[in-house]
Amino acid sequence: MALQRGLESCRPPATRLFCDPFARELVSRRWRVALSAARLEPVRRLIEGVYDHIGGPGPRASAVARTRLIDDAILDALESVAQVVILGAGFDSRAHRLPGLGERAIFEVDHPATQATKRERLQRVKTPRPATVELVPVDFDRDDLVRALHGAGYADGSASLFLWEGVTNYLTDDAVDRTLGAIRSLSSPRSTLVFTYVDRAALQGAGDAFPEAARWLAAVSRRGEPWTFGLDPGSVGAYLADRGFQLTGDLSTEAAGERYFAPRGRREQASRLYHVVTATRI
Ligand SMILES: C[S@@+](CC[C@H](N)C(=O)[O-])C[C@H]1O[C@@H](n2cnc3c(N)ncnc32)[C@H](O)[C@@H]1O
Repeated sequence: MALQRGLESCRPPATRLFCDPFARELVSRRWRVALSAARLEPVRRLIEGVYDHIGGPGPRASAVARTRLIDDAILDALESVAQVVILGAGFDSRAHRLPGLGERAIFEVDHPATQATKRERLQRVKTPRPATVELVPVDFDRDDLVRALHGAGYADGSASLFLWEGVTNYLTDDAVDRTLGAIRSLSSPRSTLVFTYVDRAALQGAGDAFPEAARWLAAVSRRGEPWTFGLDPGSVGAYLADRGFQLTGDLSTEAAGERYFAPRGRREQASRLYHVVTATRI
């Protein structure tokens, strides 16, 4: 994701969906060199072209469209929240790059190993980092999220925004269930949840509906991170209601791409299998 955000940030301001000045410092050394070179338009086009050729159409455009869609969802909700919890934060730099987040309490939750790498790489960053971020080490498969966040200073009773981007697809049904339960118990009534899921039909091999799925699934499996969880878009409202949330929005990255790419004269096609959901606590 940091690589995709870094490439997108190399585009001219008139056509890019966002600018993430931290992404280049967060990728590995090899990709840092590539991203430096990608400031030259032909190099960026070449890297994107090779990536799309190998990964297939869909993943890169979806990553970029989902980033912008979530940026907008956060900025829409921010006025009413005092705390922001980014679950499975990875190399997300929103704490520092989105206006207004630095004035909130921010908690980034992730595997301790990912956090150690991020902490080390952020030391290279010269761009000012306006936010103070509390790093909370948690494994969603086995740790107690509620206890970990309370231990890090999370305050019950203040409205919060929970972001869980690009993570549910790597978890078990049980871990997703338990994490939603933890978010529910940590949320006060005006809290907002933003999360992503993949369409369950794509996991089950519905190749006609999702021609890009086979290559995408094979690529994540090769990296040792197979997708294990998905939802049926038609049942997301009921799924969330059963867990104490009201669905307020569900957009595929394909639809997000139509919203953001076309007005900038771009023709990338993002995938229909990836979804971004917004919900509030009931
Ligand atoms: C694809 S990355 C997404 C990162 C970030 N949210 C983004 O969209 O840029 C998935 C993230 O989920 C985290 N993750 C996956 N399984 C996890 C687990 N069981 N417990 C904690 N974090 C996990 C990984 O460490 C990684 O940071």
